[in-house]
Amino acid sequence: MFYESNKKVNHARFKPQTFALLNRSRKAGIGYSQCVLRPKTTEEVSRILSFCNEHRIAVCPQGGNTGLVGGSVPVFDEVVLSTSLMDQIISTNDTSGVLVCQAGCILEKLDTHLADHGLMMPLDLGAKRFLSSWRQCVKANGEVLDCLRYHLKHLFIGSEGTLGIVTKVAIQCPAKPKAQNVAFLGLESFQDVLKTMKKAKYDLGEILSSCELIDELSLDLVTSHLKLNSPISVYPFYMLIETQGSNNDHDEMKMNAFLESAMSDGLILDGTTTNEVSKMQSLWELRERITEGLTHDGYVFKYDISLPTKNFYSLVPAMKERLGDSAKRICGYGHLGDGNIHLNISVREFTQDILDKIEPFVYEFTSKLKGSISAEHGIGFRKPKYIHYSKSKESIALMKQLKAMMDPNGILNPYKVLPA
Ligand code: MLT
Ligand code: ZN
Repeated sequence: MFYESNKKVNHARFKPQTFALLNRSRKAGIGYSQCVLRPKTTEEVSRILSFCNEHRIAVCPQGGNTGLVGGSVPVFDEVVLSTSLMDQIISTNDTSGVLVCQAGCILEKLDTHLADHGLMMPLDLGAKRFLSSWRQCVKANGEVLDCLRYHLKHLFIGSEGTLGIVTKVAIQCPAKPKAQNVAFLGLESFQDVLKTMKKAKYDLGEILSSCELIDELSLDLVTSHLKLNSPISVYPFYMLIETQGSNNDHDEMKMNAFLESAMSDGLILDGTTTNEVSKMQSLWELRERITEGLTHDGYVFKYDISLPTKNFYSLVPAMKERLGDSAKRICGYGHLGDGNIHLNISVREFTQDILDKIEPFVYEFTSKLKGSISAEHGIGFRKPKYIHYSKSKESIALMKQLKAMMDPNGILNPYKVLPA
């Protein structure tokens, strides 16, 4: 037993390590598990959890393992329960658009499968109205829950495996769009970015599917480290705007009218637009490969924050002022349409001194602006002690009560999400 807050959990087989080593491994996102279980069915998940609960063995549920806050990384030697073999597609209904699959399916597999049915995964801005629901979930004690009332699915979505393990989901998928257009734009200021986004919402309306922001230093990561080509010259800000619809002539007309008007208003300094698949992919790569570009830039402090749209970018200049020359690069990019910015600070090597300058300042700043310290990547292991910056005392107390009720022995993903 190595963690004050979780006296009831026995770790599977913990080889004593010094806490300094543990701290280092946490920074690098490495755990010490000796055992990974890869069940194929709900029944197997149920039997594993029932056994672990009875023997008070800590379990770290692991899905795609792509998170950035250590939510799916074991902290000590928890048994890793990976859903990687739970990747069966169970049914697809072309008429209703409902896909039923096991919870370990990765998005790429689902998207490829759905394309054959004229459908797509409902993941972007324009598709948020589509419903998804879980069909089956296993509680900490191994009990299988099916189709409950009270919209209890929301308890499990985003709980990062601390309340139960979702094993089967039903997702209502929209039709795959027949038309798609992407524009990549250069802009002078964040104020112009905001005006352009507002204009895009009004002028493109129902076909607007993505609105992403990239700042100059973020684009530089992919052009310099990954040698990708930008179609336009260097600007302080870039926007990637995507439309999806059912009639290309209509969508193209709308996109062109929007761009002409934004240019004549002086909002956009330069830009390019395309509906050719390979060119659209190249434009998306400039945005999607920024995280990869960062891996070539030194040690990176990563923050996934949501802020009110008008303050979306404010953390970046604030951090530049605070850190001055002690950081190599401070950049911001992300999902402007969702108010979700990825602030990244790269340094030559990790020092506690820089970390102390960044945290808790970054969370205090976010809290003052009524933002959230965690947007799409969750709380995981890195952020529980900061959760009070965006959740009230009462909410945290209720979360703890729910955790105690659902997982009384505390075996599910210990040390994650909730503060000690
Ligand atoms: C992205 O939007 O590129 C991902 O969420 C990764 C990141 O947070 O850097
Ligand atoms: Zn993101």
